Amino acid sequence: MKFYSVPIEHREHIGGYTLFSYRWEGPVEPGQFAMARFGRFPYTLDPLLARPLSFYDQDGEATSLLFEVRGRGTALLDQADKIEVTAPLGRGFDVNGIDGPCALLGGGIGVAPLKILGRRLEALGVPYDTFLGFADAGTAEISRDFPGARVATMDGSAGVRGTVLDAAPPLEEYAAVYACGPNPMLAAVKRAADGFCQLSVEERMGCGNGSCNACVVPVEGRGYVRSCVEGPVFEAATLAW
Ligand SMILES: Cc1cc2nc3c(=O)[nH]c(=O)nc-3n(C[C@H](O)[C@H](O)[C@H](O)COP(=O)(O)OP(=O)(O)OC[C@H]3O[C@@H](n4cnc5c(N)ncnc54)[C@H](O)[C@@H]3O)c2cc1C
Ligand code: FES
Repeated sequence: MKFYSVPIEHREHIGGYTLFSYRWEGPVEPGQFAMARFGRFPYTLDPLLARPLSFYDQDGEATSLLFEVRGRGTALLDQADKIEVTAPLGRGFDVNGIDGPCALLGGGIGVAPLKILGRRLEALGVPYDTFLGFADAGTAEISRDFPGARVATMDGSAGVRGTVLDAAPPLEEYAAVYACGPNPMLAAVKRAADGFCQLSVEERMGCGNGSCNACVVPVEGRGYVRSCVEGPVFEAATLAW
């Protein structure tokens, strides 16, 4: 897989998350991701594996990623002036032929692909509502970048108390439902939505290009498939959970 070395042009810390952008000319589909690593290769192979991050936004040639520091890979990215990234990977959200209002639901750092998805829906003239769920008011700060979004926090310190589904009306009202977040949240969204529903799963990934089988998810009638090449976005009905 080819990695491109790109300087970080803008960096901002918003609540518990880091938002940074770099120059990328190529098209990016909402829901696609990049494999990203600290830009010191070939002087060091630490960390050996790049980390998958969803595209947050693309405005002209400024492409941005939003991430939470969880371990060594993201901590190094957080300090980097230059990173190495792949071209957009995976299958993103299908927005073709949607003719009614959509619901966008994000849980925690799972809000990341919803910004670029909203931008695409706006370009298509498709109305949408955004619902964001967080642990607390600190992590909920990113919601200021989603004008009009309804917010829920588990501790009630911002928005309504509860999960993202507590901030949303019945999902049957929407022509399409798009969601990204932890698996228990996605399973709850799947149960609550009875129409067109697409979920972006976050499995641990090794390669991001289909060669290591680290990222498999169970699908109805087909055993397991690799979420880096067949996903990360799946029709909710195809996921066997
Ligand atoms: C398609 C896809 C898109 C993603 N998009 C984003 C994004 O936009 N922003 C973002 O912050 N994160 C995103 N993630 C999760 C991100 O890849 C992990 O948080 C990151 O790899 C952790 O690396 P690390 O070296 O910092 O932590 P590690 O030391 O590898 O792990 C630290 C902690 O993070 C947990 N973790 C590691 N990988 C994942 C994962 N894939 N999903 C959930 N928990 C994980 C581990 O269980 C551990 O508890 C995405 C994952 C996938 C598969
Ligand atoms: S991450 Fe290696 S096959 Fe998906």
